Formats: sequence, C-alpha cells, structure tokens
Amino acid sequence: MLQTPKRSPEYRYNEISFFLNGKKQIVRLSPGISTLDFLNKKLQMYGTKCSCNEGDCGACTVVISYPRDGGIVYEAINSCLYPAAKLHGKHLITVEGLGSPEDLHPIQRALLEHHGTQCGYCTPGFVMSLFALLASIPHPDTESIMAALEGNLCRCTGYQSILNAAQELSKNFDPAGIVPAWCRKIESQLFTFKDVAQTVSATSDTLYSIEQYMKPENCQQLALLLDKHPEAVIIAGGTDIMVMVNIARRKFELLIDLSEISELKNIQVKNDGVHIGAAVTYSRIMDSGIIKSDLPELVRLCRLIASQQIRNFGTLAGNIANASPIGDSLPLLLVYDARLRLESLGATREIPLREFFLDYRKTALQKGEYIREIIIPIPPREAFIRSLKTAKRKSVDISSVASAIRIQGESVILALGGVAATPVISSVFSSSVPLMDGKAWQAVAQAVAEEFSPLSDVRGSADYRRKMIINHILQYAEEYHG
Ligand SMILES: Cc1cc2nc3c(=O)[nH]c(=O)nc-3n(C[C@H](O)[C@H](O)[C@H](O)COP(=O)(O)OP(=O)(O)OC[C@H]3O[C@@H](n4cnc5c(N)ncnc54)[C@H](O)[C@@H]3O)c2cc1C
Ligand code: FES
Ligand code: FES
Repeated sequence: MLQTPKRSPEYRYNEISFFLNGKKQIVRLSPGISTLDFLNKKLQMYGTKCSCNEGDCGACTVVISYPRDGGIVYEAINSCLYPAAKLHGKHLITVEGLGSPEDLHPIQRALLEHHGTQCGYCTPGFVMSLFALLASIPHPDTESIMAALEGNLCRCTGYQSILNAAQELSKNFDPAGIVPAWCRKIESQLFTFKDVAQTVSATSDTLYSIEQYMKPENCQQLALLLDKHPEAVIIAGGTDIMVMVNIARRKFELLIDLSEISELKNIQVKNDGVHIGAAVTYSRIMDSGIIKSDLPELVRLCRLIASQQIRNFGTLAGNIANASPIGDSLPLLLVYDARLRLESLGATREIPLREFFLDYRKTALQKGEYIREIIIPIPPREAFIRSLKTAKRKSVDISSVASAIRIQGESVILALGGVAATPVISSVFSSSVPLMDGKAWQAVAQAVAEEFSPLSDVRGSADYRRKMIINHILQYAEEYHG
C-alpha cells in the first residue's frame, strides 16, 4: 500500500498564492520553475515569449506589482530568470491582461500607429517594459524611455519607431489611462496580503533541475536552514543562478531564497557607514535617497549594470557572492573600503571586502554562512571617487575591464576587475602620490598595466585589456585635473 510521505514542517507547503492579471491564483509549483515556463508550459499562456532564456533579449518581459517603501511599484522583469516561487504575494501582469486584439491597450495602439512592430515576437516585451515605465513615471523623458527599453531587443522593426511611440505616449497620453482599473483594485489587497509565506518544496515533476526551493521568512530561519543543509545554495535575485539552470542545465538539490526576508531589505545609515541588506536590489539602491546623497557613484555605476529588468531583482550582495572577476560593482566597493557582515547560526563576523575574494570564484564564505549586509563607510565629500566599465555594448553587457579610483588627499586607491582571477587593488599607486602632471599619470598607467597578467578571452585579449587599464587611468586623471 502506498504511504503518504511524512514531511517535516519546512516542507509543509508547495503552493503559492498571487494575483495574475487581476485574479487571485493559488497554484502548486515545480520547484524552481521560471515564471516564463510557468506561463507558457503550465498555464498555456503564450503571449510572453521566449528567445534567449538568459536575460539578454527582453522578449519574456512581464511586470510585477507589489508594495515597496510604503507605495506600490510596477517593475518589469525577465520572466525567464524569475522563479515563479517569487510571485507569492505579488501581482503578475502579462500582455494578455493588458489588451486584446479587439481592445488594444494604449501602448499597443501607439506601437501599431507608429509602425513599432513587424514580426511581433519582441512586441509583448516592449509593451510590458513601457507599461512598467509609464505606470511609474507618467511623462518620462527620452533618457528614461531609453533606459527602460535597453533590455529589449528587436531584430526587424528598428528602434526609432518604437521610441516615437513611447515619446508620443509620454507627451500626449493621459497617464491615468495606462494602469487599468483592475490593477488599481488589486493594489490595496497587495498591502494587506495575509496568506502565510509559502515554501516551495519537492514535487514529482522532474522537468526542472531544482529539487527543492525554500523561502525562509526571517534571518533566524535562514540560518537554521543553512545550518541543516550546508550544501544548499542561496538564491537572491537569481539573475546568475537561473542562467546556470536554464543554459548550463546545472542541477541544484536545494535553493534557499532570501529575497523576501524583510530584515535584509533595509538601507540604513549607522555610525560606521551605509548598511545595505543582502536582499536590496539595484533598483532600490538607485532610488534610495541615502545612497544618492552619500554614495552617488554607486548610483551611477548601478545604472551601467545589466538592464532595467535585471536591476529590478538582481542584488549587490549577489554580485559580491558570485565573485566573478568581472562583477561590475566590485572595484567600486573595494575603493569604498566596504565590509561584509557574514552570518551563520548563532555567529556573526565582519570582514573587509578586500579579504573576501580568495581565488577565482572562491570566497571567504564558510559553510552555513551568508552575506547579511554590505557596510560602506561614507567617504568625505572632497574624496574623488569614480568608476568606469568597458564593454562591447552600453547595456546588458558584462565588462571586459572595470575599474574604480579614489583620490583623497595624498592617498590614491585603484581597483580593477577583469585583469586577474579576482578583483584586485593595484599596489603601484601606494608610493606614487601625489600624482601631478600628465607624464606622471602616463607612467603610473603603464606600470599598472604591467602589474597584472590579464587573460585573453571572448571579451578581449590581454593586450586589449592592458590598453583599457591605461585608458581608464588617463580618463580619471583628466577628470580629476578638470
Ligand atoms: C542579462 C544579464 C546581464 C548582466 N549584466 C551584468 C552586468 O552588467 N554587470 C555585472 O556585474 N553583472 C551582470 N549580470 C550578472 C548578475 O545580474 C549580477 O551578478 C547580480 O548582481 C547577481 O545578483 P542576484 O541577486 O541575481 O544573484 P543570484 O543569482 O541570486 O546569486 C548569485 C550568487 O551569489 C550567491 N548569493 C546571493 N546572495 C547571497 C548572500 N546574501 N549570501 C551568500 N551568497 C549569496 C548565490 O548562491 C550565487 O552563487 C548580468 C546577468 C544577466 C543575466
Ligand atoms: S527570453 Fe530573452 S530575456 Fe528572457
Ligand atoms: S518586430 Fe520582429 S523582433 Fe521586433
């Protein structure tokens, strides 16, 4: 006789509840299934398209709406990288909800009238990115429109007609008509969403390479789970993890999602600097008054990372823990002299970021430990802090070389990414301050370029990378001397 397997409390739930295009849903999920697969394969909703399945093209863009900082946000995300388990308590809006052939949404009508669509494969993604933008900023300027669309590719129409449609909407359309009444109706319910937080556990579905997916509600639960399952892998946004799942077909026995832990969502100023929680996304950093005022270069850098869709759920802590030598935030965090608060069951410790990267993708994190927050001392106003990134495209491209510099009085710190197995701090500068004329800068730039042995790979040859190091340093010098 078949017996019902006994489950410990942590495996109690395998359902989530959320709103889909205005209607409450309670669904049973395969662990780790992406929102895109969930829509296409489980719900047979095909309006949301799949092209790259790795966050690069934007064809799969959908919008999530949820309470944040006292208001309701509408954010575009790449559904191919967004685990459906993250939808719990949110409103998922897809192109099917916005309009129909008989009753087009104003954004769809504008695209049609400005010839902003041809084969149409990319169009749902553009519609949803524009929807998120116009729901957030009623009359966006061209720069904001371009930023909102930088994560969407179109192979046939040409971007000008899409831009024309967006500009027309921005200028001449009543913003009140952008967010449908059924969306507004859900907003109050999102604030008072009471369903218990759900943990998605194993099901018999073997299609997906994640066996269990858990969502602890607080740091104590997180530490307990990590202690009990030291082999578990943490997922924050999932913008690195889900690429491994979708493209590299990497198997994960257990993913522990910390993105909904409210203790990890704070940005606070304390005596020792700005504390950024591990679940804080790039978008929140860019919107934060604290960061804009105390760490403005971090805001400028975040704007260069990935696309709007990725920034809406990717985190700074994920970029650090991923420990890629070309993680874009790492050189800047090094010159900020950032520290990490690492936590495990019953223990907490702080470590300078410069001691965190041990070797290629190897970090000082121990089993059962997680990054709880990033602590960035607030630099004095007179410190000159800048960062640069060289990539083939302006957006949605990881750098071949990234760097950051801090010049403060006599001291200069230069950090680089893409030139060694880990992000590094140059030692050339320590004895070369103050740097005064162009010749001195040129000599130092040359010395730094010779200090490291960068690899040649698809992003650039070693020689190219050395030239970029020199270019970055000379660019800093020019700006510094005005
Ligand atoms: C299309 C695309 C474009 C991208 N562009 C850029 C770019 O321009 N620049 C750039 O630097 N990166 C880029 N990335 C990479 C990625 O978006 C970033 O590295 C992002 O910051 C990862 O954050 P996440 O929250 O999504 O991490 P996740 O994918 O959730 O996790 C990444 C790693 O960190 C670990 N981890 C996460 N949080 C913690 C924690 N609190 N404690 C311990 N371990 C943790 C996870 O176990 C995993 O190993 C891009 C990715 C995609 C798909
Ligand atoms: S399918 Fe290309 S970004 Fe998701
Ligand atoms: S209309 Fe064909 S890809 Fe954009």
